[in-house]
Amino acid sequence: MSEFSNIVNWDNLQKKSNEFQQNKPFRFGFVEEFFKRKFYDKLYLDFPILDNSWGINSDMSKFQYYKQVFTHEKDQREPNCTEKELGENWTLLSKYVQSEEFISNFREFSGIPVTRTKNFSFICYKKGGFQLPHIHNIGPSTLVCMFYFSKNWPLGEPGGTYMASEEDESSIIFEPHNLDNTMAIFHDSPFSAHGCRLITKNLERRALQIVLESFSEEEGWSSAK
Ligand SMILES: [Fe+2]
Repeated sequence: MSEFSNIVNWDNLQKKSNEFQQNKPFRFGFVEEFFKRKFYDKLYLDFPILDNSWGINSDMSKFQYYKQVFTHEKDQREPNCTEKELGENWTLLSKYVQSEEFISNFREFSGIPVTRTKNFSFICYKKGGFQLPHIHNIGPSTLVCMFYFSKNWPLGEPGGTYMASEEDESSIIFEPHNLDNTMAIFHDSPFSAHGCRLITKNLERRALQIVLESFSEEEGWSSAK
């Protein structure tokens, strides 16, 4: 058994593969019980406490808190998460998401030729947090994944990353409400509108975001072309 064998329920991802690849107007999906429950509970307990050591992304389009663990993206914020606060379980996960085993599972699931993990960051919202609908359109081979760590999210409450057919909240086509060990994922494209509706209750939306992308030594990241 490898050190990584008790982390992810890969079957739960793969059984959503067809749905992900067939969704329109862009590829997106939602997976429940992504992590094995025992490991999830450890991550849940060790989730970094949202205090004033977190960075704030605040402009007209959003209000959110972040902790950057690593990034290979230029123009991104510097890491602001110490090894100590990451702890052993999150450190293990940060290693696993960069392994060929992890990335190849996502390649198979998505049909997108991702080869490397570009960044790993915690993103949280509190009451008043939001992100307006937007489209990145950074390139052909990028997957954006949000893993949720908020139990008992009230049904119908904003907080999950929604998918929309246009950059407009009235055109939402999917919004997750189970935020307890679930993942929302989309393929970046010219049509991939997404965002987070304004949180109006005293709730803490906790998530890990990772970005997977195609990378080659000759050409670099597929989004940099
Ligand atoms: Fe985004």
